[in-house]
Amino acid sequence: MLNIEFLTAPKIICQSDGLRNQLGKLAMSLLPLPIDKPVALIITDPGITKCGYTERAANSLRTSGFTVATFDRVQADPPYSIVEDAIELGRSISANIVIGLGGGSSIDTAKVVSLAINSTQSLDEMVGMNQATGQPLPLIAIPTTAGTGSEVTLVSVLTNEIGEKKAIYSPKLMPDIALLDASLTLGMPRHVTAAPALDAMVHCVEAYTSRTKKNPISDALAIKGLQLLTQNYMTVLEDGSNLAARENMLLGSSLAGMAFVNASVAAVHALSYPLGSKFHIPHGHSNALVMGPVFRFNIEAASDYYAELARAILPNDEFVDNFSAAHTFVDTLENFLDQSGLATRLSDLGVTDIDILPMATEVTQKISRLIDTNPRDMTTKDVEQIYRSVL
Ligand SMILES: [Fe+2]
Repeated sequence: MLNIEFLTAPKIICQSDGLRNQLGKLAMSLLPLPIDKPVALIITDPGITKCGYTERAANSLRTSGFTVATFDRVQADPPYSIVEDAIELGRSISANIVIGLGGGSSIDTAKVVSLAINSTQSLDEMVGMNQATGQPLPLIAIPTTAGTGSEVTLVSVLTNEIGEKKAIYSPKLMPDIALLDASLTLGMPRHVTAAPALDAMVHCVEAYTSRTKKNPISDALAIKGLQLLTQNYMTVLEDGSNLAARENMLLGSSLAGMAFVNASVAAVHALSYPLGSKFHIPHGHSNALVMGPVFRFNIEAASDYYAELARAILPNDEFVDNFSAAHTFVDTLENFLDQSGLATRLSDLGVTDIDILPMATEVTQKISRLIDTNPRDMTTKDVEQIYRSVL
């Protein structure tokens, strides 16, 4: 018997140059009542402001009658203090709508700000599953990288005062509109494109093999997402200005986001988290580093699923059996990392042998919920071996 609950953003718009042409009108459409002088708060990072996208968003909003305030101090792995500053700004200007513009960190921050402005809860009180109360402000999420899928997910990951990653899961975090404007992703350098793209591929694979919440809706999204991502990956790496390929990558990463937030990610993400929190390796890169050995470890339990994915992304290949298809599948993804221009060994990024046992212990003891969804059981020893294989 099916028992599926599937949540995603109510409206998804894919339109190149939508930021310039649509944002103001979309924002106005979300206001619950006509407001005399509506105020929009744009949450972004300094890089996005520098390349002119913040001003482009502000112009579109002003043209539609908004007064616009900008908070462009978002950092990677958003610290509580920065998020609290953004919330304070939103309260002080009585914002009516929040716009998240940027990579996953900006959108994660914007999601929490939209929820917290009218809430009495602290960030710590919101952490966890469905702990958040209060009424969120309308929210539009506009990704500038193809990867995290944060524009269609109900989770925000922040970093507390002592450097721990804290996740808030709540349907109240779901953006009202995800605006996919691929023109914003044009021209990014090779490795900046590659890391989030590999993260999105991992989202598809881990959703498709999730032991607890895999379902036919997430499966369909994971397969289509992985096809779009793998078919366009080398094109965007080699020609960053190819708009059609960029559109496919952005759509693929959103499909991946829809799949994983409903089906869960698994061990790749679990092993990736300590690499992010201890060594500040960006999320997409840390996933990419461990995906090959984790997937190879999983073949014993998930060869049929990997074979299905292999046939979806390599339709012209012939395989003698599912086991060989699964190996080809993992090799194909690993080859994408080799082509990325990113470092491929943990030791290149400051990790030493002495770090491995504490990280492995953290994975199996503190991030066990993501080990539970992995298709094959994983012990601390297994995790150590996987880390060591890419040291
Ligand atoms: Fe991810």
